[in-house]
Amino acid sequence: MEKFINITLKVWRQNGPKDKGRFEIYKLNNITTDSSFLEMMDILNEQLIGEGKEPVAFDHDCREGICGMCSLYINGHPHGPDDDVTTCQLHMRKFKDGETITIEPWRSAAFPVIKDLIVNRSAFDQIIASGGYVSVSTGGVPDANAIPIPKADADEAMDAASCIGCGACVAACKNGSAMLFVSAKVSQLALLPQGRVEGARRAKAMVAKMDELGFGNCTNTGACEVECPKGISLSNIARLNREFLCAKLQD
Ligand code: SF4
Ligand code: FES
Repeated sequence: MEKFINITLKVWRQNGPKDKGRFEIYKLNNITTDSSFLEMMDILNEQLIGEGKEPVAFDHDCREGICGMCSLYINGHPHGPDDDVTTCQLHMRKFKDGETITIEPWRSAAFPVIKDLIVNRSAFDQIIASGGYVSVSTGGVPDANAIPIPKADADEAMDAASCIGCGACVAACKNGSAMLFVSAKVSQLALLPQGRVEGARRAKAMVAKMDELGFGNCTNTGACEVECPKGISLSNIARLNREFLCAKLQD
């Protein structure tokens, strides 16, 4: 049932990458619990603009859990308190009347803050560009359909491919590791015959780029899997480790 709540927002404001940043407190009244978290942020910005203040910069695009842009740390959790949803899929019914909600950007050396709640996640693009693709000829659609692929492998590849590159796994990890992301991107291709051809080169190149960009090491704490909005499994990290080890043995 729709309710209306009054909330206090503690929002990270930072003018640019070199600014120290600070929290600012805002009060919002009569927010419908049917609104999404980002709609609530829109209301906050309308209020700020009405008061002649600068609106809060935050990232978003699809607002339906696909693009991975809405990278907010809410009350200590990437994408907030709900399970298996992105920030844009989070609703205000998850919060109580009178609650104080703390909103921060991803905190990771590899994702520097651009402004307020927006971080630079182009490090992920660089990792993909280093090898997260198939560059051999795989024929046309009829050829792909003619290759028998076990259902279990196809399902696992599809599960891995559901990674939206949001970066919550990195933000959740005390080491700032990107292993869950990289392992999903390696797995979605390694599980299919079209991706196997370049499997060894891909695993080595993507791990090397991840290390070069300053992401931390994985120490198997599992925080990434818990906070991932797409339920990407830690088993992908085990597969990446196997792929990487086998590739190194072939050197
Ligand atoms: S593995 Fe999950 S948390 Fe990490 S980038 Fe992909 S979808 Fe986001
Ligand atoms: S805005 Fe696209 S996933 Fe949230």
